[in-house]
Amino acid sequence: MRITVRSLLLCSTLCARVSAHWAADSKQQPIVHHQGPLGDNNDDDEKTPVYRTSLLSLHRALVDVPSISGSERSVAILLEKILTDYNYTVELQRLSSTKPSSDENDESHARYNVLAWPGRNSDRTFHNRVLITSHIDVVPPYIPYAINGTPIAPGSPYDFSDITSNTFISGRGSVDAKGSVAAQITAASLLWSSPSIHASDVMLLFVVGEETSGQGMKFFSSSLSNHTSPPGGQRPQFRAVIFGEPTENKLACGHKGILGGSIFAKGKAGHSGYPWLGKSAISVLVRALDKLLSADLGSSERYGNTTVNVGFIEGGVAANVIAKEAKARLAVRIAVGNQTTGGEIVAEGIRKVLRETDEEALGLELVAGYGPVECNCEVEGFETMVANYGTDVPNLHGDHVRYLYGPGSILVAHGDDEGLRVRDLEDAVEGYKRLIKHAVEDSA
Ligand SMILES: *[C@@H]1O[C@H](CO)[C@@H](O)[C@H](O)[C@H]1NC(C)=O
Ligand SMILES: *[C@@H]1O[C@H](CO)[C@@H](O)[C@H](O)[C@H]1NC(C)=O
Ligand SMILES: *[C@@H]1O[C@H](CO)[C@@H](O)[C@H](O)[C@H]1NC(C)=O
Ligand SMILES: *[C@@H]1O[C@H](CO)[C@@H](O)[C@H](O)[C@H]1NC(C)=O
Repeated sequence: MRITVRSLLLCSTLCARVSAHWAADSKQQPIVHHQGPLGDNNDDDEKTPVYRTSLLSLHRALVDVPSISGSERSVAILLEKILTDYNYTVELQRLSSTKPSSDENDESHARYNVLAWPGRNSDRTFHNRVLITSHIDVVPPYIPYAINGTPIAPGSPYDFSDITSNTFISGRGSVDAKGSVAAQITAASLLWSSPSIHASDVMLLFVVGEETSGQGMKFFSSSLSNHTSPPGGQRPQFRAVIFGEPTENKLACGHKGILGGSIFAKGKAGHSGYPWLGKSAISVLVRALDKLLSADLGSSERYGNTTVNVGFIEGGVAANVIAKEAKARLAVRIAVGNQTTGGEIVAEGIRKVLRETDEEALGLELVAGYGPVECNCEVEGFETMVANYGTDVPNLHGDHVRYLYGPGSILVAHGDDEGLRVRDLEDAVEGYKRLIKHAVEDSA
């Protein structure tokens, strides 16, 4: 892999204006730095990629800024500045408020998707591009950026020259999904400036709300209907969409579907000493849940078993009162059917369990879900995997080829120890470069 000189002018120099610590990080950096013995690991033969410092500075800047779902404004504005400095044409897409009561003009609660097109003053078109996308929101709580376990105060300078490919970087969002965001921006910029792709081949999209209900991607998807091309014509159609989520740099062949909902049990209150005079909603609910947890809700070769998590239970008023009401909330991971049919197949399986337990006492309320989501994993040179988690893939409507790929492991993504190694990020840059080129050439 060769990189042109122009492509080296990424974050190290350009993003200096963006934030204080960014400037501090980059000032002390020659863009190409030492490639000497790298120390404690087996990568003595490994070359330090020329973009290491810019990639790590970008990643750090994103992780430093808290962006728990619902409070993504600061990170969106940071990204707008960064991408503008990278010579992209950037648009902040403001989500219209979902709560009618909240003040539409209250800027502090504004939520923005970040859209970017390569080139200054580029045409903001969608049709026929390869969309490179991930999300900028994270789960709570905020965990500061740290290198090999040592937190680095936001805004303080950091000299990345001692970093090796084995260095461990942690912090909330470092994996899910700011690792993907930083690697995607780096890869797209390198390809475009080399130039291996044309500016009109791709665009970037970083959305909010993926960790909750996908509001950001859903809003973007519906906004596409407002961008007909030519005006008055068809809804724009992407050639392919590359979704960034932690897949350990493997290309996902798809992920399980999801169905959420609640089971309600109704009983009759009474004195606990005379249970036959009442009916315990809790007893009914517990029997139903027990059956549900051992029920076969469908399986498939690719996705394994449908699984049920009962994540929340409540009911009753006191130990000595027969419970009149009880409720359980479920998250079901669907392994059967397809994206359209999987939800209903599993919903029917749940209803059957409730009917067999106590049809009269039990009720079900489901939140619309989707069945297993297929992605394209037939690209040479990638290991493949199947994911058990949900993504924004089903929230973007359209008839495009879908890829799901990114650095880091989902197994740490929402934990206290969320983090990855430098090599994971760098491998992801290389992976995204190959994937973007493949998507551009394949669909040309
Ligand atoms: C951005 O554009 C300017 C003006 O054309 C150029 O000098 C600079 O090198 C470009 N930056 C990148 C990262 O390509
Ligand atoms: C699409 O355009 C309509 C009419 O201008 C507007 O009311 C609606 O909010 C727009 N939707 C999005 C998602 O931008
Ligand atoms: C799937 O469920 C069946 C029982 O219904 C069980 O025998 C099997 O081990 C499960 N497979 C996995 C991968 O958990
Ligand atoms: C899902 O399966 C149904 C029934 O097998 C089929 O009619 C439908 O076209 C499929 N949908 C997709 C998106 O594959």
